[in-house]
Amino acid sequence: MKKSPNKIYCLGIESTADDFGVGISDKKGEILANISDAYIPNTGGIHPREAARHHAKVASDILNKAFILAEINPSDLGLIAFAQGPGLGPCLRTGATIARAMATYLGIPLVGVNHSVAHIEIGKLKTKAIDPVTLYVSGGNTIVSAFDSGKYRIFGETLDIALGNCLDVFAREAGLKYKKGVPLGAALEKMAIDGKNLISMPYVVKGMDVSFSGLLTAAIDLLHQNKYRLQDLCYSIQENVFAMVSEVTERALTHTEKKDILLTGGVAANKRLQNMISSIAKDHSVNFNTVPSEFAHDNGAMIAWTGLLAYRNGIITPIEDSMVKLKWRLDQVDIPWIK
Ligand code: ATP
Ligand code: FE2
Repeated sequence: MKKSPNKIYCLGIESTADDFGVGISDKKGEILANISDAYIPNTGGIHPREAARHHAKVASDILNKAFILAEINPSDLGLIAFAQGPGLGPCLRTGATIARAMATYLGIPLVGVNHSVAHIEIGKLKTKAIDPVTLYVSGGNTIVSAFDSGKYRIFGETLDIALGNCLDVFAREAGLKYKKGVPLGAALEKMAIDGKNLISMPYVVKGMDVSFSGLLTAAIDLLHQNKYRLQDLCYSIQENVFAMVSEVTERALTHTEKKDILLTGGVAANKRLQNMISSIAKDHSVNFNTVPSEFAHDNGAMIAWTGLLAYRNGIITPIEDSMVKLKWRLDQVDIPWIK
């Protein structure tokens, strides 16, 4: 990649949860680098302080690699973007500290990016979706949204745990292991392929919102009864939880009359979920778009690209306003780049 002095390069830092990611984008959305390193706990779920320690440890190596891949120098950057929230406090603060230090040292502006907005914007950049209903499903989020009157509105969301978290907790309880490149949700998907019998589990959709905690408790109970094949349990969990989010997505689609569906977040990699959502798209004669895996799970490129969109619309984040926002909701963010 040959650098051009007229280009604004933005470096984006993602550190909301278990991944530390760095992406570099130019102002047209060409992604010059996108690399990350995941913290994998030895046992149990993510420990926020341990994840933050991991991020601090790998940060300089990941940053160096990103500059080498992009073939630019730090002095070529015009902007630093960072995920300001929502997420885990210690993890967010580690990324924010690095971003502030870089922006100050280089004398360039800083932009705090909402992580959920970034998932949608990178999805639009990397697919043909223009104005979609988005189903964003990950370890920490379950949101059905669409743009209306200046903001991404939330049409439906989880009332308790996120979909990915539900899959992960069950998978861990069933003894499945998280390996590099094979997250727990993917291990559960593999098991589900050999499932044949649909076991009854709580299916909870309240209005436009969903709830997974009752299903998770029931599934763990069934697991410990030792009466069912693990494959059938995994299959039944998937069928139920994916049908729940599909129902809400379909209703948001008919209400908004949008012409695209966008599926994103780490769980978007799941083939069964892709099938369900794409068949809804087909039924309603709209386009189904799923974000390529590299950009669907947490990544720095989505932060860099969204930072550029914001910056081009006059948004910068002064250092004194750059404290992290653990519970920063998608529908609290102004989106001036959509007219
Ligand atoms: P966020 O901060 O946006 O909530 P995250 O930290 O959970 O994101 P992601 O990489 O977006 O990170 O999502 C990870 C989730 O995706 C995990 O719950 C993981 O098990 C799940 N996942 C990954 N691949 C699959 C798959 N093939 N099927 C189902 N779930 C999957
Ligand atoms: Fe995410």
